[in-house]
Amino acid sequence: MKYKTLKGLQDILPPEVSIWQHIEAKARNIFRAYGYQEIRLPILESTNIFVRSIGETSDIVEKEMYTFQDKGGRSVTLRPEGTASFVRAYVEHHLYNNPAPQKYYYMGPMFRYERPQAYRYRQFYQIGAEAMGVEDPKLDAEIISMLTKILSGIGLAGLNFEITSIGCKKCRPAYRDALKNFLREKLNSFCSDCQRRFDVNPLRILDCKVPDCVSIRQGSPPVIDYLCAECKEHFESLKHHVILLKVPHTINPNLVRGLDYYTRTVFEVQPLIEGSQSTIGGGGRYDHLIEEIGGKPTPAIGFSTGIERIILNLKRQKVDIPSLPKPLVYVAEMGAEAKNIAVKLSQTLRDKGIGVVETISSRSLRAQLRQANSVGARFAVIIGEDEVKNSTVTLRDMTSAAQETVALSDIVEVLKRHLNK
Ligand code: HAM
Repeated sequence: MKYKTLKGLQDILPPEVSIWQHIEAKARNIFRAYGYQEIRLPILESTNIFVRSIGETSDIVEKEMYTFQDKGGRSVTLRPEGTASFVRAYVEHHLYNNPAPQKYYYMGPMFRYERPQAYRYRQFYQIGAEAMGVEDPKLDAEIISMLTKILSGIGLAGLNFEITSIGCKKCRPAYRDALKNFLREKLNSFCSDCQRRFDVNPLRILDCKVPDCVSIRQGSPPVIDYLCAECKEHFESLKHHVILLKVPHTINPNLVRGLDYYTRTVFEVQPLIEGSQSTIGGGGRYDHLIEEIGGKPTPAIGFSTGIERIILNLKRQKVDIPSLPKPLVYVAEMGAEAKNIAVKLSQTLRDKGIGVVETISSRSLRAQLRQANSVGARFAVIIGEDEVKNSTVTLRDMTSAAQETVALSDIVEVLKRHLNK
């Protein structure tokens, strides 16, 4: 085979697309119910937007970005996630001047140059939401609960949220010191990345996936023990609200997110039966990011969920996905005059909102009806020599094989009646 998709990328063929459309449609319904509006953002951005937002020492920025120079010599990057692009747009269009809360959602491809494994892709799709301008933990709980509704609406069961607080700028220095004190004497045993990050961003050491590093850092102090009074109060109120909204969750003080912009609430959603490999979604607050990118200080929270991960779990749970509507009518024809009638009739039916598949070559009636079956048509309209002569068509119910003769001038109305159109 001469040409193939790149490693870590995949084609999504029509039978699978019905699952994608099901997921997207369910998500859109829920977003509507919670007052979120869609925003569409470019896939390509200036590299520094991601470096500034996600963090210079994060794995995404250090190892996983598709970055290249465009023909004008600018460094550009295929977006590895949506939040940084969203915040760029929010600041660029001064959206922070609009009254809060503002709620946005997006869907689309993201790119990370990761080692491809099952359901870890280099191009993957996220559905994401960002809510702006509200500090109240009631919103944190609402957004977590909205993600539960999206996932359960799609058909997933047995989900669990892991939730914690990682504090704010005020509590961070004390925690950083405590963490560094814990890590210092073990530092030589950590991988070179962790050693490098010790002074620049020690919190990133908690996110290292190297098995030795994972075991050496066991017992490190949890950030939750170092929250300032305001962050503690925020976290207590969040816990109260997730219980109120019946979100299935556990508090996981060791939860670490791979992006630097988070403050206070962070969360991930896992299927109950699986390990971290299959995290379905994650998110959190990023109350300082808008200001850091040049906007007015604006509290913010969001999440994103990976469509491929949702599909993995739908398949594991053997969830029945409704298939896409099939074309309703197949027009079979024999002879040159029949062809002219078929072309015109097909157009009229489509104009009336009735999906039509036409035969494409003069084949036997049997072959044409076989094709009608394989495309899943409910009815076939057959136009042969006799029908042309009598200005009629033969209408065949593809399920019962019952046939009736209908005047050509009546067929559109008859089909509309049969199909409740
Ligand atoms: P994230 O945790 O990096 O968060 O990604 C969110 C979800 O994207 C993951 O839980 C997973 O389902 C999916 N995902 C990530 N990488 C891959 C991959 N290589 N292959 C397949 N699926 C993947 C963010 O991206 C943040 N922007 C979330 C957020 C929004 N935080 C605040 N607002």
